[in-house]
Amino acid sequence: MRVAPDELLRALADGEPHSGTELAREFDVTRAAIWKAMRKLVHWGLDVSAVPGIGYRLARPIDLLDARALRRALAPRTARRLARLEVLTELDSTNRRLLEGAPPPAGELAACLAEFQTAGRGRRGRRWVAPLGGGLCISCGWQFAGAPRDLSALTLAVGVVARRALKDAAGVDVALKWPNDLVLDERKLGGILLELAAEAQGRCYVVAGIGINVALPPKSLARLSDWPRGAIDLATAMRGAPPPRLAVAARLLDGLADLFASFADTGFAPYRAEWRDADYLLGRRVKLDDPAAPANGTARGIDRDGALLIETVNGARRRVISGDVSVRSA
Ligand code: BTN
Repeated sequence: MRVAPDELLRALADGEPHSGTELAREFDVTRAAIWKAMRKLVHWGLDVSAVPGIGYRLARPIDLLDARALRRALAPRTARRLARLEVLTELDSTNRRLLEGAPPPAGELAACLAEFQTAGRGRRGRRWVAPLGGGLCISCGWQFAGAPRDLSALTLAVGVVARRALKDAAGVDVALKWPNDLVLDERKLGGILLELAAEAQGRCYVVAGIGINVALPPKSLARLSDWPRGAIDLATAMRGAPPPRLAVAARLLDGLADLFASFADTGFAPYRAEWRDADYLLGRRVKLDDPAAPANGTARGIDRDGALLIETVNGARRRVISGDVSVRSA
């Protein structure tokens, strides 16, 4: 007999010690089966200790996400627009799951959250890694009747939605690094990955994935980001008291549903001023990593369509629509 690791996880989520014998009795399996399932928890990045004579315990409690509680925390207008909401313990990628599944009906939102991703996707082919329960991995899918105008700026608008959600649920002021990074205290707090699938009859299926570091073990934080000062999580920014992940997730879903429902009509305009206020790169010396045409210069904000403007050393303006931009040290 086996025990499902996610059931074992639920039993240990309180952070209290649980004896192997009691767990074996509760799940009606052998102690060896409990030990085997425990290895999966370690694989998920959890800090599990086995104290002789006391039992197994997690280094800290985990507020596991729950689909029903999340649904209840949504604004009524969002709940009405929700075609599907899944919260899974382990998945390869929430973006992949939505993209490869059937799109939701027009005007409705599909949402998928995972506690742990085995192949989380980052921008430009990178991986997105987060230990179980340490972050938020959330994707939302929406079907537009045709490619909306300002589609190229949709990632930026999602950044504004994430910024508002983090302000509401956590009280933090996040900066936005063009095109997709969420920044706190010069470090990466999270990122956005927008993926598109062209559909029949010109329809356009958009999946917006957001990853946010909430409370990560310090050693995984240090490994996470290629930013000069590394990554940050909400727990560090909020001196050990991060908000419940459910609250952040609910505000993200509210904001994304509102954004998607109105974007075809309004475009980027209602988000542009706020994006400019939060522009992390503005006025900084930057390097554009474009193999065909690299450039150094000063970031001068974004234009109407969300393209980044770089003033190069000879005074010319370069309009950047894709690529990696990093800050150059003084
Ligand atoms: C980046 O900064 O490169 C973007 C990271 C986006 C990560 C999120 S986590 C939820 C969603 N599912 C994925 O596979 N990726 C995105």
